[in-house]
Amino acid sequence: MSKNSVMNTYGRFDVTFEKGFGSRLYDVNGKEYIDFVSGVAVNCLGHSHPTIINAITEQSKKLIHISNYYWNTKHTELADKLIKNCDHSKVFFCNSGTEAVEGALKVARKYGKLKGGINKNIILYMNNSFHGRSMGALSVTGQEKYQKDFMPLIGGVKRVEFNNIEDLKRSFDENVCGIIIEPIQGEGGIIRASDEFLKEARDLCNKHDALLIFDEIQCGIGRLGSLFAYKEFGVVPDVITIAKGLGGGFPIGAFIVNEKAENVLVPGDHGSTFGGNPLACAVGIAVLNELIEGGIVASVKKKGQYLKEKLSALKEKYKVINEIKGMGLLLGISVDDPKAFMNACFKKGLLVVTAGEDVVRILPPLNVTKEDMNAALNILEDIMKEMHV
Ligand SMILES: Cc1ncc(COP(=O)(O)O)c(C=O)c1O
Repeated sequence: MSKNSVMNTYGRFDVTFEKGFGSRLYDVNGKEYIDFVSGVAVNCLGHSHPTIINAITEQSKKLIHISNYYWNTKHTELADKLIKNCDHSKVFFCNSGTEAVEGALKVARKYGKLKGGINKNIILYMNNSFHGRSMGALSVTGQEKYQKDFMPLIGGVKRVEFNNIEDLKRSFDENVCGIIIEPIQGEGGIIRASDEFLKEARDLCNKHDALLIFDEIQCGIGRLGSLFAYKEFGVVPDVITIAKGLGGGFPIGAFIVNEKAENVLVPGDHGSTFGGNPLACAVGIAVLNELIEGGIVASVKKKGQYLKEKLSALKEKYKVINEIKGMGLLLGISVDDPKAFMNACFKKGLLVVTAGEDVVRILPPLNVTKEDMNAALNILEDIMKEMHV
Protein backbone atom coordinates (compact mmCIF):
# COMPACT_ATOMS: atom_id res chain seq x y z
CA MET A 1 0.00 0.00 0.00
CA SER A 2 1.48 3.32 -1.06
CA LYS A 3 0.53 6.51 0.73
CA ASN A 4 2.65 8.68 -1.56
CA SER A 5 -0.13 9.49 -3.98
CA VAL A 6 -2.32 11.15 -1.35
CA MET A 7 -1.95 14.90 -0.84
CA ASN A 8 -0.39 15.71 2.49
CA THR A 9 -3.13 17.82 4.08
CA TYR A 10 -3.74 15.90 7.30
CA GLY A 11 -1.59 14.93 10.26
CA ARG A 12 -2.88 11.37 10.16
CA PHE A 13 -2.34 8.70 12.79
CA ASP A 14 -0.29 5.75 11.68
CA VAL A 15 -3.27 3.43 11.40
CA THR A 16 -5.32 2.04 8.54
CA PHE A 17 -8.85 1.00 9.32
CA GLU A 18 -10.61 -1.82 7.59
CA LYS A 19 -14.00 -2.27 9.22
CA GLY A 20 -16.22 -1.17 12.04
CA PHE A 21 -19.28 -2.28 14.00
CA GLY A 22 -21.20 -0.02 16.33
CA SER A 23 -18.74 2.10 18.32
CA ARG A 24 -15.81 -0.15 17.48
CA LEU A 25 -13.28 0.13 14.66
CA TYR A 26 -10.75 -2.49 13.52
CA ASP A 27 -7.45 -1.76 11.81
CA VAL A 28 -5.85 -3.90 9.11
CA ASN A 29 -3.97 -5.84 11.80
CA GLY A 30 -7.18 -6.63 13.66
CA LYS A 31 -6.56 -4.22 16.55
CA GLU A 32 -9.81 -2.94 18.04
CA TYR A 33 -10.48 0.72 18.88
CA ILE A 34 -13.39 2.42 20.58
CA ASP A 35 -14.42 5.17 18.21
CA PHE A 36 -15.32 8.30 20.17
CA VAL A 37 -14.53 10.53 17.20
CA SER A 38 -17.35 9.13 15.03
CA GLY A 39 -15.79 10.59 11.90
CA VAL A 40 -15.95 13.95 13.75
CA ALA A 41 -19.61 13.85 14.71
CA VAL A 42 -20.67 12.04 11.54
CA ASN A 43 -21.28 8.36 12.37
CA CYS A 44 -24.26 9.07 14.61
CA LEU A 45 -25.43 5.46 14.35
CA GLY A 46 -21.94 3.98 14.67
CA HIS A 47 -20.43 1.76 12.00
CA SER A 48 -22.22 -0.80 9.80
CA HIS A 49 -25.64 0.09 11.10
CA PRO A 50 -28.16 -2.26 9.42
CA THR A 51 -30.60 0.59 8.69
CA ILE A 52 -27.94 2.49 6.73
CA ILE A 53 -26.69 -0.63 4.96
CA ASN A 54 -30.26 -1.49 4.01
CA ALA A 55 -31.03 2.03 2.73
CA ILE A 56 -27.88 2.07 0.58
CA THR A 57 -28.51 -1.43 -0.75
CA GLU A 58 -32.18 -1.00 -1.56
CA GLN A 59 -31.92 2.50 -3.01
CA SER A 60 -28.85 1.71 -5.09
CA LYS A 61 -30.81 -1.07 -6.79
CA LYS A 62 -33.40 1.50 -7.89
CA LEU A 63 -31.81 4.88 -8.52
CA ILE A 64 -28.54 6.46 -7.41
CA HIS A 65 -28.47 9.76 -9.22
CA ILE A 66 -30.54 11.84 -11.56
CA SER A 67 -30.22 15.50 -12.36
CA ASN A 68 -31.86 18.23 -10.32
CA TYR A 69 -33.78 19.02 -13.49
CA TYR A 70 -36.13 16.25 -12.31
CA TRP A 71 -37.84 15.28 -9.07
CA ASN A 72 -37.09 12.17 -7.07
CA THR A 73 -39.26 10.91 -4.22
CA LYS A 74 -36.42 10.54 -1.69
CA HIS A 75 -35.43 14.17 -2.10
CA THR A 76 -38.90 15.44 -1.24
CA GLU A 77 -39.43 12.87 1.51
CA LEU A 78 -36.23 13.88 3.31
CA ALA A 79 -37.04 17.57 2.93
CA ASP A 80 -40.53 16.97 4.37
CA LYS A 81 -39.10 15.03 7.28
CA LEU A 82 -36.65 17.79 8.17
CA ILE A 83 -39.26 20.52 7.86
CA LYS A 84 -41.67 18.56 10.05
CA ASN A 85 -39.12 18.75 12.84
CA CYS A 86 -38.24 22.45 12.79
CA ASP A 87 -39.83 25.90 12.49
CA HIS A 88 -38.67 26.37 8.92
CA SER A 89 -40.14 25.91 5.49
CA LYS A 90 -37.65 24.95 2.77
CA VAL A 91 -34.49 22.88 2.33
CA PHE A 92 -31.66 22.87 -0.19
CA PHE A 93 -29.50 19.73 -0.26
CA CYS A 94 -25.80 19.65 -1.01
CA ASN A 95 -22.95 17.28 -0.17
CA SER A 96 -20.95 18.67 2.73
CA GLY A 97 -20.85 21.17 5.53
CA THR A 98 -18.79 23.79 3.78
CA GLU A 99 -21.19 23.68 0.85
CA ALA A 100 -24.15 24.16 3.18
CA VAL A 101 -22.43 27.23 4.62
CA GLU A 102 -21.76 28.60 1.13
CA GLY A 103 -25.47 28.32 0.36
CA ALA A 104 -26.45 30.00 3.62
CA LEU A 105 -24.06 32.90 2.92
CA LYS A 106 -25.51 33.31 -0.56
CA VAL A 107 -29.04 33.42 0.84
CA ALA A 108 -27.95 36.14 3.31
CA ARG A 109 -26.26 38.19 0.57
CA LYS A 110 -29.24 38.07 -1.73
CA TYR A 111 -31.67 38.70 1.12
CA GLY A 112 -29.71 41.84 1.97
CA LYS A 113 -29.74 43.01 -1.61
CA LEU A 114 -33.48 42.49 -1.92
CA LYS A 115 -34.22 44.21 1.38
CA GLY A 116 -31.72 47.05 1.49
CA GLY A 117 -29.96 47.32 -1.83
CA ILE A 118 -26.36 46.80 -2.80
CA ASN A 119 -24.80 48.09 0.46
CA LYS A 120 -26.66 45.66 2.68
CA ASN A 121 -24.06 42.97 2.18
CA ILE A 122 -22.11 42.59 5.43
CA ILE A 123 -21.96 39.15 7.02
CA LEU A 124 -20.93 39.03 10.66
CA TYR A 125 -19.02 36.01 11.97
CA MET A 126 -17.40 34.99 15.23
CA ASN A 127 -13.80 34.80 16.28
CA ASN A 128 -12.71 31.22 17.01
CA SER A 129 -15.44 29.84 14.72
CA PHE A 130 -15.14 27.08 12.14
CA HIS A 131 -17.41 26.87 9.11
CA GLY A 132 -15.42 24.97 6.49
CA ARG A 133 -12.63 25.15 3.96
CA SER A 134 -14.15 26.61 0.80
CA MET A 135 -13.32 30.27 0.23
CA GLY A 136 -16.68 31.62 1.44
CA ALA A 137 -16.88 29.41 4.51
CA LEU A 138 -13.21 30.09 5.24
CA SER A 139 -13.86 33.83 5.06
CA VAL A 140 -16.22 33.52 8.03
CA THR A 141 -14.00 31.08 9.92
CA GLY A 142 -12.53 33.27 12.65
CA GLN A 143 -9.21 31.52 13.11
CA GLU A 144 -5.98 32.92 11.69
CA LYS A 145 -4.34 29.53 11.23
CA TYR A 146 -6.96 28.45 8.69
CA GLN A 147 -7.18 31.75 6.84
CA LYS A 148 -3.67 33.17 6.69
CA ASP A 149 -2.26 31.42 3.61
CA PHE A 150 -5.34 31.91 1.50
CA MET A 151 -5.86 35.66 1.53
CA PRO A 152 -7.55 37.50 0.02
CA LEU A 153 -10.76 35.86 1.11
CA ILE A 154 -14.21 37.20 0.28
CA GLY A 155 -14.94 40.75 1.33
CA GLY A 156 -17.96 42.13 3.11
CA VAL A 157 -17.44 40.05 6.23
CA LYS A 158 -16.75 41.34 9.73
CA ARG A 159 -15.50 39.52 12.79
CA VAL A 160 -17.28 39.79 16.14
CA GLU A 161 -15.95 38.56 19.46
CA PHE A 162 -17.90 35.44 20.36
CA ASN A 163 -20.21 35.96 23.35
CA ASN A 164 -19.33 39.68 23.58
CA ILE A 165 -22.67 41.45 23.43
CA GLU A 166 -21.15 44.93 23.30
CA ASP A 167 -18.99 44.02 20.32
CA LEU A 168 -22.00 42.47 18.63
CA LYS A 169 -24.06 45.63 19.12
CA ARG A 170 -21.17 47.81 17.89
CA SER A 171 -20.74 45.72 14.74
CA PHE A 172 -24.40 45.49 13.78
CA ASP A 173 -25.98 48.14 11.58
CA GLU A 174 -28.42 48.38 8.69
CA ASN A 175 -25.77 47.13 6.23
CA VAL A 176 -25.59 43.74 7.89
CA CYS A 177 -27.45 41.09 5.86
CA GLY A 178 -26.63 38.08 8.01
CA ILE A 179 -24.74 36.71 10.95
CA ILE A 180 -23.39 33.19 11.25
CA ILE A 181 -22.95 31.52 14.64
CA GLU A 182 -22.22 28.01 15.89
CA PRO A 183 -24.47 27.55 18.95
CA ILE A 184 -21.55 25.53 20.30
CA GLN A 185 -18.17 26.15 18.71
CA GLY A 186 -16.91 22.65 17.95
CA GLU A 187 -13.47 22.92 16.35
CA GLY A 188 -12.88 26.05 18.39
CA GLY A 189 -12.91 24.09 21.65
CA ILE A 190 -16.53 23.20 22.63
CA ILE A 191 -17.50 26.72 23.61
CA ARG A 192 -21.18 27.39 24.14
CA ALA A 193 -22.82 30.58 22.91
CA SER A 194 -24.47 32.28 25.85
CA ASP A 195 -28.26 32.53 25.80
CA GLU A 196 -27.97 36.30 26.13
CA PHE A 197 -25.62 36.55 23.16
CA LEU A 198 -27.89 34.48 20.93
CA LYS A 199 -30.94 36.45 22.05
CA GLU A 200 -29.16 39.72 21.27
CA ALA A 201 -28.19 38.39 17.83
CA ARG A 202 -31.83 37.46 17.23
CA ASP A 203 -33.06 40.89 18.35
CA LEU A 204 -30.51 42.72 16.20
CA CYS A 205 -31.39 40.61 13.16
CA ASN A 206 -35.05 41.51 13.70
CA LYS A 207 -34.22 45.19 14.18
CA HIS A 208 -32.01 45.46 11.09
CA ASP A 209 -33.82 42.87 8.95
CA ALA A 210 -30.86 40.50 8.66
CA LEU A 211 -30.75 36.70 8.68
CA LEU A 212 -29.61 34.78 11.73
CA ILE A 213 -27.73 31.70 10.54
CA PHE A 214 -26.98 28.86 12.95
CA ASP A 215 -24.27 26.48 11.81
CA GLU A 216 -25.46 23.19 13.30
CA ILE A 217 -23.15 21.07 11.19
CA GLN A 218 -21.34 19.68 14.22
CA CYS A 219 -23.84 20.27 17.04
CA GLY A 220 -27.04 19.40 15.16
CA ILE A 221 -28.78 16.16 14.10
CA GLY A 222 -29.41 15.03 17.64
CA ARG A 223 -25.98 15.54 19.14
CA LEU A 224 -27.24 17.91 21.84
CA GLY A 225 -30.38 15.88 22.52
CA SER A 226 -32.75 17.62 20.08
CA LEU A 227 -32.77 16.93 16.36
CA PHE A 228 -31.99 20.62 15.80
CA ALA A 229 -29.50 22.25 18.15
CA TYR A 230 -31.34 25.60 18.24
CA LYS A 231 -34.12 23.96 20.24
CA GLU A 232 -31.71 23.77 23.17
CA PHE A 233 -31.09 27.53 23.13
CA GLY A 234 -34.52 29.16 22.99
CA VAL A 235 -33.64 31.19 19.90
CA VAL A 236 -34.94 30.32 16.44
CA PRO A 237 -32.55 31.13 13.58
CA ASP A 238 -33.70 32.04 10.08
CA VAL A 239 -31.25 29.70 8.38
CA ILE A 240 -29.74 26.42 9.62
CA THR A 241 -26.83 24.55 8.11
CA ILE A 242 -26.55 20.81 8.67
CA ALA A 243 -24.37 18.02 7.27
CA LYS A 244 -22.21 15.46 9.15
CA GLY A 245 -24.72 13.34 11.10
CA LEU A 246 -27.51 13.66 8.54
CA GLY A 247 -26.04 10.88 6.41
CA GLY A 248 -24.55 8.89 9.29
CA GLY A 249 -21.37 8.63 7.20
CA PHE A 250 -22.85 9.06 3.74
CA PRO A 251 -21.99 12.52 2.36
CA ILE A 252 -24.90 14.95 2.50
CA GLY A 253 -25.42 18.52 3.64
CA ALA A 254 -28.26 20.99 3.60
CA PHE A 255 -29.33 24.48 4.45
CA ILE A 256 -32.81 25.14 5.72
CA VAL A 257 -34.59 28.48 5.69
CA ASN A 258 -37.73 29.91 7.25
CA GLU A 259 -40.56 31.68 5.46
CA LYS A 260 -38.68 34.97 5.61
CA ALA A 261 -36.00 33.59 3.31
CA GLU A 262 -37.78 30.83 1.44
CA ASN A 263 -38.18 32.72 -1.84
CA VAL A 264 -34.82 34.49 -1.88
CA LEU A 265 -33.14 31.99 -4.18
CA VAL A 266 -34.88 31.43 -7.50
CA PRO A 267 -34.09 29.08 -10.41
CA GLY A 268 -30.56 29.70 -11.61
CA ASP A 269 -29.31 31.26 -8.35
CA HIS A 270 -27.85 28.15 -6.79
CA GLY A 271 -27.31 24.52 -7.60
CA SER A 272 -25.45 21.30 -6.97
CA THR A 273 -25.02 18.39 -9.36
CA PHE A 274 -25.13 15.76 -6.62
CA GLY A 275 -27.21 17.60 -4.01
CA GLY A 276 -30.48 15.86 -3.22
CA ASN A 277 -29.60 12.69 -5.09
CA PRO A 278 -31.88 9.73 -4.28
CA LEU A 279 -29.16 7.62 -2.67
CA ALA A 280 -27.96 10.27 -0.21
CA CYS A 281 -31.54 11.26 0.60
CA ALA A 282 -32.62 7.63 1.14
CA VAL A 283 -29.80 7.31 3.67
CA GLY A 284 -30.79 10.61 5.30
CA ILE A 285 -34.38 9.37 5.68
CA ALA A 286 -33.18 6.10 7.20
CA VAL A 287 -30.88 7.95 9.63
CA LEU A 288 -33.66 10.33 10.72
CA ASN A 289 -36.11 7.44 11.16
CA GLU A 290 -33.66 5.69 13.41
CA LEU A 291 -32.73 8.82 15.32
CA ILE A 292 -36.29 10.09 15.83
CA GLU A 293 -38.67 7.13 15.75
CA GLY A 294 -35.97 4.79 17.04
CA GLY A 295 -35.68 6.93 20.17
CA ILE A 296 -31.96 7.63 19.81
CA VAL A 297 -32.19 11.42 19.96
CA ALA A 298 -34.32 11.05 23.08
CA SER A 299 -31.52 9.02 24.73
CA VAL A 300 -28.71 11.49 24.08
CA LYS A 301 -29.06 13.73 27.13
CA LYS A 302 -29.11 10.78 29.51
CA LYS A 303 -25.96 9.33 27.93
CA GLY A 304 -24.25 12.71 27.94
CA GLN A 305 -25.16 13.17 31.59
CA TYR A 306 -23.77 9.75 32.44
CA LEU A 307 -20.46 10.55 30.75
CA LYS A 308 -20.31 13.97 32.38
CA GLU A 309 -20.91 12.53 35.86
CA LYS A 310 -18.20 9.91 35.40
CA LEU A 311 -15.80 12.48 33.96
CA SER A 312 -16.50 14.80 36.89
CA ALA A 313 -15.55 12.01 39.30
CA LEU A 314 -12.31 11.46 37.32
CA LYS A 315 -11.65 15.20 37.38
CA GLU A 316 -11.85 15.22 41.18
CA LYS A 317 -9.81 12.06 41.59
CA TYR A 318 -6.84 12.72 39.29
CA LYS A 319 -6.60 16.48 38.74
CA VAL A 320 -5.76 15.96 35.06
CA ILE A 321 -8.98 17.43 33.67
CA ASN A 322 -9.21 21.19 34.10
CA GLU A 323 -12.79 21.55 32.87
CA ILE A 324 -15.60 19.47 31.40
CA LYS A 325 -17.35 21.15 28.51
CA GLY A 326 -20.23 20.65 26.15
CA MET A 327 -23.78 19.36 26.03
CA GLY A 328 -25.36 16.04 25.11
CA LEU A 329 -22.81 13.93 23.28
CA LEU A 330 -20.75 16.90 22.09
CA LEU A 331 -18.38 16.82 25.03
CA GLY A 332 -14.87 18.02 25.71
CA ILE A 333 -12.36 17.84 28.50
CA SER A 334 -9.83 20.60 28.81
CA VAL A 335 -6.39 19.29 29.77
CA ASP A 336 -2.90 20.82 29.83
CA ASP A 337 -1.61 18.91 26.79
CA PRO A 338 -4.53 17.75 24.64
CA LYS A 339 -2.32 16.27 21.93
CA ALA A 340 -0.40 14.11 24.39
CA PHE A 341 -3.69 13.06 25.95
CA MET A 342 -5.19 12.16 22.56
CA ASN A 343 -2.09 10.17 21.63
CA ALA A 344 -2.21 8.29 24.93
CA CYS A 345 -5.85 7.41 24.23
CA PHE A 346 -4.93 6.23 20.75
CA LYS A 347 -2.22 3.92 22.11
CA LYS A 348 -4.75 2.34 24.43
CA GLY A 349 -7.34 1.90 21.68
CA LEU A 350 -9.60 4.89 22.24
CA LEU A 351 -10.12 7.42 19.45
CA VAL A 352 -10.73 11.02 20.51
CA VAL A 353 -9.90 14.29 18.78
CA THR A 354 -8.55 17.64 19.96
CA ALA A 355 -10.33 20.99 19.60
CA GLY A 356 -9.17 24.55 20.16
CA GLU A 357 -6.09 25.12 22.32
CA ASP A 358 -6.75 22.85 25.24
CA VAL A 359 -9.63 20.48 24.60
CA VAL A 360 -10.00 16.80 23.85
CA ARG A 361 -13.36 16.17 22.20
CA ILE A 362 -15.47 13.16 23.07
CA LEU A 363 -17.96 12.46 20.28
CA PRO A 364 -19.41 8.96 20.61
CA PRO A 365 -22.01 7.67 18.18
CA LEU A 366 -25.44 8.72 19.47
CA ASN A 367 -26.44 5.06 19.87
CA VAL A 368 -23.36 4.28 22.00
CA THR A 369 -23.97 1.56 24.57
CA LYS A 370 -23.29 1.84 28.29
CA GLU A 371 -20.75 -0.94 27.90
CA ASP A 372 -18.78 1.09 25.34
CA MET A 373 -19.02 4.24 27.44
CA ASN A 374 -17.66 2.33 30.43
CA ALA A 375 -14.87 0.80 28.33
CA ALA A 376 -13.86 4.29 27.14
CA LEU A 377 -14.07 5.69 30.68
CA ASN A 378 -11.76 2.90 31.90
CA ILE A 379 -9.18 3.88 29.30
CA LEU A 380 -9.53 7.55 30.21
CA GLU A 381 -9.04 6.66 33.87
CA ASP A 382 -5.92 4.59 33.10
CA ILE A 383 -4.42 7.56 31.27
CA MET A 384 -5.28 10.01 34.03
CA LYS A 385 -3.77 7.61 36.59
CA GLU A 386 -0.53 7.69 34.61
CA MET A 387 -0.60 11.47 34.14
CA HIS A 388 -1.58 12.23 37.73
CA VAL A 389 1.36 13.43 39.83
C1 LIG B 1 -19.50 23.81 12.56
C2 LIG B 1 -18.94 23.30 11.27
N1 LIG B 1 -19.27 23.91 10.12
C3 LIG B 1 -18.79 23.49 8.94
C4 LIG B 1 -17.94 22.41 8.86
C5 LIG B 1 -17.42 21.97 7.51
O1 LIG B 1 -18.00 20.76 7.16
P1 LIG B 1 -17.36 19.87 5.99
O2 LIG B 1 -16.05 19.37 6.50
O3 LIG B 1 -18.37 18.78 5.78
O4 LIG B 1 -17.21 20.73 4.81
C6 LIG B 1 -17.56 21.76 10.03
C7 LIG B 1 -16.61 20.63 9.98
O5 LIG B 1 -16.01 20.24 10.94
C8 LIG B 1 -18.08 22.21 11.27
O6 LIG B 1 -17.73 21.63 12.41
